[in-house]
Amino acid sequence: MEILNTQVAIIGSGPAGLLLGQLLHKAGIQHIIIEQRSSEYVASRIRAGILEQVSVDLLKEAGVDQHLREYGLPHHGIEILTNGEKHRIDLTGLTHGKQVTVYGQTEVTKDLMHAREQAELISFYEANDVKIHDFEQSPHVTFNKNGMNYKVNCDFIAGCDGYHGVCRASVPQDKINTFEKVYPFGWLGILADVPPVSDELIYVQSERGFALCSMRSSTRSRYYLQVPLTDKVEDWSDERFWEELGKRLDEESRKNLVTGASIEKSIAPLRSFVTEPMRFGKLFLAGDAAHIVPPTGAKGLNLAASDIAYLSSAFIEYYLEGSEQGINEYSEKCLKRVWKAERFSWWMTHLLHRFETESEFDLKIKQAELAYILSSEAGQTTLAENYVGLPYELGQFENIKQAS
Ligand code: APR
Ligand code: PHB
Repeated sequence: MEILNTQVAIIGSGPAGLLLGQLLHKAGIQHIIIEQRSSEYVASRIRAGILEQVSVDLLKEAGVDQHLREYGLPHHGIEILTNGEKHRIDLTGLTHGKQVTVYGQTEVTKDLMHAREQAELISFYEANDVKIHDFEQSPHVTFNKNGMNYKVNCDFIAGCDGYHGVCRASVPQDKINTFEKVYPFGWLGILADVPPVSDELIYVQSERGFALCSMRSSTRSRYYLQVPLTDKVEDWSDERFWEELGKRLDEESRKNLVTGASIEKSIAPLRSFVTEPMRFGKLFLAGDAAHIVPPTGAKGLNLAASDIAYLSSAFIEYYLEGSEQGINEYSEKCLKRVWKAERFSWWMTHLLHRFETESEFDLKIKQAELAYILSSEAGQTTLAENYVGLPYELGQFENIKQAS
């Protein structure tokens, strides 16, 4: 058995684990990342693509925003299409100058992995049988790689291992509360090397169901359709996808739609899920390990980033200032922001999708709510300020800045 010693053992090399690693490295805190999949697999997963300004700022703090600055697309508004008419939400105008940045999560992951390689930081990919132990007292992690058994002794464990990870599953049932809502439909997404239908994202509410027109660049588009959970990817040829998308769009967008061969196609179920608390002794859950949002509000990656802002700050306070305050407040601070983003994502999902169970009355009420939001500056502002991202609690970046 090989024995390693570190300060923070990070389980999972998704955006949460990688970003935490980078921020700890910048602050001079030792850590190791342990990931069960291969680095190629991690770097190639296609996920969402909208960054809040606070997430962009955090990537900058971590020193990994070079590509983001070059290739990220600043967006100042989104369109909502309902009843065949597009309505623009002026994100920047309604939020005193804020914006979002279109930049794929796949790129964020690659940038973080590249920075990690450059700094020669330790990652174990393809780690088997990862287990966490004794996280109330003297935490350690065991795993197996290439036939060799490893034990990592550490001060803290960061559970950044996603929804299906081992960390949350290791917490005794009587110490954890979970809250969940599963939606009765999925999103069929395709990626294609065709120019986007419009300069801004279009969120579509239609009788045929929800659709979303997004993008990765001026030559690469990302589109989604609400589909029944019983549908399989094989049921959806590219032709069928484009035809259905066209039917959910308005005439102008339909005319502008450029179709082409898909380079990725998948169906994702939609779920809202929260774990309380997010800290168990010396184990901290972050990102998808602690919560899931439906993708409608584009909050998944941004919530992972805000957890990591709080967690990195807490570890920096602990190691550099000898204070346990950040550690003690971690769960409460995260959950405040998490529940607000959960609410927003649930609301956007509810407002824009067709639910088979909804009555004619429900539908009329929903149409009225959407009409109200779109016609009122207060309504639009509510949407805009949540979409661009609610602020972190004050002082959040101070430690990171001090340490770097
Ligand atoms: N041991 C080690 N690693 C594990 C284990 C395990 N037992 N289980 C899972 N992992 C790894 C996964 O292989 C994955 O690479 O943990 C990583 C978790 O990464 P993500 O699922 O990307 O989660 P997170 O880093 O929290 O990022 C959240 O991803 O799903 C999107 O919408 C979500 O944008 C959000 C972001
Ligand atoms: C995406 O581009 O993948 C995307 C954009 C906005 C969302 C969800 C996904 O709300």
